[in-house]
Amino acid sequence: MLGKIFITRHLFQETVKRLRAEVEVEENTEDRILSKPELIQRLMGMDGVIPLLPNVVDREVLQSASNLRVVANFGVGVDHIDVRAATELGIVVTNTPGVLTETTADLAWSLLMAAARRIVEADNFMRSRQFTAWGPKMLLGHDVFGKTLGIIGLGRIGQAIARRARGFNMRVIFTDAGRVKDDVVRELGATRVRLEELLRTSDYISLHAPLTPQTTHLLNDQAFEMMKPSCIVINTSRGPVIDEKALVRALKNGRISGAALDVFEHEPKVEPELLEMNNVVLAPHIGSGSYETRLKMSEMAADNLLSVLKGQRPPNIVNPDVWGNR
Ligand code: DGY
Repeated sequence: MLGKIFITRHLFQETVKRLRAEVEVEENTEDRILSKPELIQRLMGMDGVIPLLPNVVDREVLQSASNLRVVANFGVGVDHIDVRAATELGIVVTNTPGVLTETTADLAWSLLMAAARRIVEADNFMRSRQFTAWGPKMLLGHDVFGKTLGIIGLGRIGQAIARRARGFNMRVIFTDAGRVKDDVVRELGATRVRLEELLRTSDYISLHAPLTPQTTHLLNDQAFEMMKPSCIVINTSRGPVIDEKALVRALKNGRISGAALDVFEHEPKVEPELLEMNNVVLAPHIGSGSYETRLKMSEMAADNLLSVLKGQRPPNIVNPDVWGNR
């Protein structure tokens, strides 16, 4: 056996079976959310962990797991893992990029379309048996085709969003903190603009930036103030990129027309007023939630974990410095 590992939530049994052939596996089979002291206790003596949200793997957790060699995240976002502390402690952190790109882009588009065409309201309307006759002004939404889509963060998922926008003949503008290759931008037919221009001119704004100190509350009162009153904001990245209270104010004051959210600032809590608003579409963090993709993520996390325990460089290392220092 290569060592002992802990899986913090209920994972696909196909993957667990495969892992059991090479490592001793302990699982949180009840799928109960573990408290931090419980997590610390369960990680004692473990060589690896596959953490699943909402478990937070912070410095204290990492420090108390003295045998830990690898944190193989299930997901691409690693904001719930203290990567700096892991690096200092010589612990490898891995993630699962790529496999969830298209699935998350599909969900972001579903949310965009649902908000634009008021699909959730329409569904409620039908179920409450209010549809008694067709009406020319019934449940009017907004067009999507030919409009301007502002993408904040043109990484893998942002690019997949932009590719879909071509089918809707949209003008695509974007901001990105890093450098996106010119040929990629050309192929997408996208235009880089300053954040202020994106906020002022977009009909739809879709967030695809990672959560960092720079992106926390990127959409705040000032940002909403700049948007068109018809703008719809879609968030499938991380909740704290939006100041949720400011979003409520913007929606209440008609500063923007709607929002479609898959992630929340204080997940799983949601600003109560959002739950009452008809112009808001809500989903419980299901961006990558297709059976096919979640299974691939599970397999990828296992591959990363096993590589480290075998002394091989894992395919998706988040803190390569740790490997370089070996
Ligand atoms: C991700 O991959 O970061 C998704 O949000 C699931 O954790």
